[in-house]
Amino acid sequence: MNVLVTGGAGFIGSNFVHYLRRERPSWKVTVLDLLTYAGNLKNIAELVEEGSVRFVKGSIADKELVDDLFKGTKFNLVFNFAAESHVDRSIHGAQVFVETNIMGTQILLDAARATGVERFVQISTDEVYGSLGPTGFFVETTPLNPTSPYAASKTGADLMVLAAVKTHGLEAVITRCSNNYGPYQFPEKLMPLFITNALEDKPLPLYGDGLNVRSWIYVEDHCAALLLCGEKGRSGEVYNIGAGADGELPNIEVTKTILSILGKSEDLIQYVADRPAHDRRYAIDYSKIKSELGWEPKISFREGVQRTVEWYKNNKEWWQSVKTGEYLKYYEMNYANR
Ligand code: NAD
Ligand code: DAU
Repeated sequence: MNVLVTGGAGFIGSNFVHYLRRERPSWKVTVLDLLTYAGNLKNIAELVEEGSVRFVKGSIADKELVDDLFKGTKFNLVFNFAAESHVDRSIHGAQVFVETNIMGTQILLDAARATGVERFVQISTDEVYGSLGPTGFFVETTPLNPTSPYAASKTGADLMVLAAVKTHGLEAVITRCSNNYGPYQFPEKLMPLFITNALEDKPLPLYGDGLNVRSWIYVEDHCAALLLCGEKGRSGEVYNIGAGADGELPNIEVTKTILSILGKSEDLIQYVADRPAHDRRYAIDYSKIKSELGWEPKISFREGVQRTVEWYKNNKEWWQSVKTGEYLKYYEMNYANR
C-alpha cells in the first residue's frame, strides 16, 4: 500500500505519520510538505532518517510538482492534511488560505483522479458549520455556514472534493473534526500557546469573556478515526469526529486546567480583545462514525491535557526554537494593542 500524507510535517499530520508507522508498518508512506512556518521536519526526523518515511518538500499548489509526484509513484491512498490552519492568521491575510486550502486541494484532486488513486481523505474541520448557540450539535447535514476566511477556504475545499466524487466518480471521504491538542502543535493555537507561556511565566491572552466553547479531542483519537475513514469510510460521505461531552469546555476552563496541572497561578490569565466574528460554541455529534465504523474517542480531557503538558515540559528545545523570528513578529502583530 502506497500512501501520500500531505502536511505530514505539521501537527496532526506528523502525529498521523507516527500512528501509521505503528499501526500499518508495511505501508510505504510519502510525506509532501512545504515546511511553512507551521511545518517542522524535526517532527518526523527519525522516520525520515531511518528510511521508513520518504519526505518531499513542496507545495500542494505546485501543479507541476504534484503531477510529477503522482506519476512517479502510484498512490493507493491520499490523506490531505496540508493547509493554512490558523483562524487568527486568516483574519490578517486570507490569500494564502485560498491558494493552499482551495487551489492546492483541487490540484491534488486532479492528480488523484488522473492516476487512479483508490481513496482520497480530505481532512476538514467542524468550523465549516459556523457557530452553535447554547444548545445543539453539529451533524453531517448541518448547513455549511463558515465565519472566518480559514473556515470559508476549508468549506470551498470540501465542496470541490464532493464535486470530484459526484462529477468524476473519485473515491473520497471528508472528515470534520473539532479542536485537536497534543504533541508537536505549533504554539500559536490556544493549548500549546498557553502551556508554553505558562512555563515561561508569561500572560495567557484569553479572548473576549473566555466563555467560547470548543470540543477538545486528543490528537491520537483523531488519527485513529482518520485511518478508519481511509480504510472503511463510504465514498462521498462526510464523517464528524469529536470528543463528546467530556471535551466540551469553555476556554476559561481549559485555561484553568492547564494552570492547575502546571501548578501556576491564575493571575497569569489576561483577558484581551475578542477575535472578530469569534464562533461561540462548537459541539460534535459523532454518532455516524461510531455506528458505521465503530470509532469512539478513548482519551479523557484530563488525561490528554496531562500528557500534552508533560510533552511540552520535556521538549522545551522543540518549542523554544520555534518561538523565535517569524513567530515573534506574528505574536507582536496579533497581540499588541489587543
Ligand atoms: P498545521 O498548521 O500544524 O500543519 C499544516 C502543515 O501543512 C504544515 O506542516 C505546513 O508546512 C503544511 N503546508 C502548509 N501549506 C502547504 C502547502 N501549500 N503545501 C504543502 N504543505 C503545506 O495544521 P494542523 O493543525 O496539523 O491541521 C492539519 C489539517 O487538519 C488541516 O487541514 C486543518 O484544517 C485540519 N484540522 C485541524 C484541526 C486542529 O484542531 N488543529 C482540527 C480539525 C481539522
Ligand atoms: O475546530 C477545529 C479548528 O480548531 C481547526 O479547524 C483549526 O485549524 C484550529 O486552529 C482550531 O481553531 P480554533 O480557532 O478553535 O483554535 P485556537 O486554538 O486558535 O482557539 C481556540 C479557542 O481559544 C478559540 O475560542 C479562540 C481562543 N483563543 C485562542 C488563542 C490563540 C484565545 O482565547 N486566546 C488565544 O490566544
